[in-house]
Amino acid sequence: MNVGGTLVAGPAKSGLSGVVSIPGDKSMSHRAIMLAALADGTTEIHGFLPGEDCLATATMFTQMGVTIDWLNDDKTSLRVHGVGLHGLKKPETTLDAGNSGTCVRLMMGVLAGQAFESHITGDASLQARPMQRVADPIRQMGASVTGNDDLLPLTIQGGKLKGIQHISKIASAQVKSCVLLAALFAENETTVSEPRPTRDHTERMLPLFGQPVRVDRNGVIHLLPTGKLTAPNEPVYIPADPSSATFFAVAASLVKHSDITLQRIGMNPLRNGWKRILSDMNGDMCLQHEVLVGQESVADIHVLYRDLHGIAVNPADVPDAIDEFPVLFAAASLSDGVFILSEAEELRVKESDRIAVMAAALQAAGANIEEKPDGVKIIGGKLHGDCTINACGDHRIAMAMAVAAQCAEIEIHIENSASIATSFPDFVPLAQSLGMNIHWADC
Ligand code: S3P
Repeated sequence: MNVGGTLVAGPAKSGLSGVVSIPGDKSMSHRAIMLAALADGTTEIHGFLPGEDCLATATMFTQMGVTIDWLNDDKTSLRVHGVGLHGLKKPETTLDAGNSGTCVRLMMGVLAGQAFESHITGDASLQARPMQRVADPIRQMGASVTGNDDLLPLTIQGGKLKGIQHISKIASAQVKSCVLLAALFAENETTVSEPRPTRDHTERMLPLFGQPVRVDRNGVIHLLPTGKLTAPNEPVYIPADPSSATFFAVAASLVKHSDITLQRIGMNPLRNGWKRILSDMNGDMCLQHEVLVGQESVADIHVLYRDLHGIAVNPADVPDAIDEFPVLFAAASLSDGVFILSEAEELRVKESDRIAVMAAALQAAGANIEEKPDGVKIIGGKLHGDCTINACGDHRIAMAMAVAAQCAEIEIHIENSASIATSFPDFVPLAQSLGMNIHWADC
C-alpha cells in the first residue's frame, strides 16, 4: 500500500475557473496495453494514463518479453510490439500488480491462457481483496490457481482452455473482462452474463484487434475465439478518465461562483452514472463538442456552481458510478436534504472499505453520515473541517476529501494520500490550476 503523504486542503478562497485536460482513462489504458501486447504487430497508443496502476500492467508485459517504446517523457504515448496470443515468455520473477485490482484480475485471465506457471501478487491492500471471483471461472476453464484462501499471492498454471458459460453473481467489469481475456485462449465459445451491465471497454476494444464480440438481446456476451489478435492500423486513442474528471466536476458544483470546462472526457454510458446522479442532485453540466474516438465517444463538460440537494440513488446506476461514490458522498454532505445509497456493498471491497473509510472521514469533518451494510444515508449540511483524517492509502478517498475540504470552514489534513499517484498523478497541480486550495504538507 502506498502509505504516507499528507494533503492539506481547503477551504477554497474563490470560485474555481479554467479549462483542464484530464489524464487518460485508467480502465482503457490497462486494456489497450493488454490487447496490444497479445496482438500480432505493433500498436500505437495515445492518451495512456501514466499512473502507477497502468504502469504495473506495462511492467508485467515487459517481464514477459514484450517490448514497449515510450514515445514521450510523460509516458502518455507508446508503441507496443505485440508478441501474439502465444508469444509471452515465462516471467523470471513474481508479477506485481501493486495497488491495482484491474491489473491483477484482468492479468489472471491472460495468465490462464499461458502454458507456463506464473506467480502474481500486489500490495497489502490488494492482498486483502477477493480474488475467488476470478479464480473460480478460470479454474472452470482449465487453469490451475493456487494460494491461501484465493488471496494474493497466487500461482497460476495455464494452458489450453475450454469455453464456459459464466453467470456472474457480481456486477463486475473486472470479472467479466478476466473471463473474456481467458476466452481468447479457449477452444470454443465463452459466454458471460452479469446481474447488471458494467463498463464494456473490453467488448468495445476487442473488435479493434480483430476479435468479434457479440451481445445478444438478453445482454449475454458471446466470444468465439478467432485464435489471434491483430494490431489495428490506426493508433488507439484513449479518452480522458471520467472517474478523474468527477473530482473537479463535484468541486466546481460545490464552490460558489465556479465555472470550469473539462476536456475530452469519456462519455461511455456505462461510466457516466456520476453525471446522472450529479444532475439529479441539481448539478449544472453541459456537454460540448461530442465526437466519437475509436469505439468511444468523448465530450467537453462545462460545469457551473449550483445549490445541490440529496437524492435516493437508483440502484441500477450503482455499477455505472461505482468509483465515483466517495466524491459523491462529499457532495451529499454539503447539499440540502437527504442522500441515500443502497445495493452498493461492492464499495466495501475496493482499495479500502469505501463506506467505512468515507463515513469516518466525513464524520470527523462534521458530516451527518450513517453507514449501512450496503451504502449510506447522509443528511446534508456544513463541514467544519479542522481535522486530520486518514485516506488509508486509497487514492479516491484522498481526492474526495480534498474536494470536500474546499467547502469546509477550516482546512483538512488528509494523511496517507500518496496513493493518488496510482490513478491521477497530476491531481494536485491540476486542482491548483483551477483554484482549489490544496498542497502537500511538506511543500
Ligand atoms: C474496473 C472495474 C471496476 C472499478 C475499477 C475498474 C475495470 O471494478 O471499480 O476501478 O477497469 O474493469 P469491479 O469490476 O470490481 O467493479
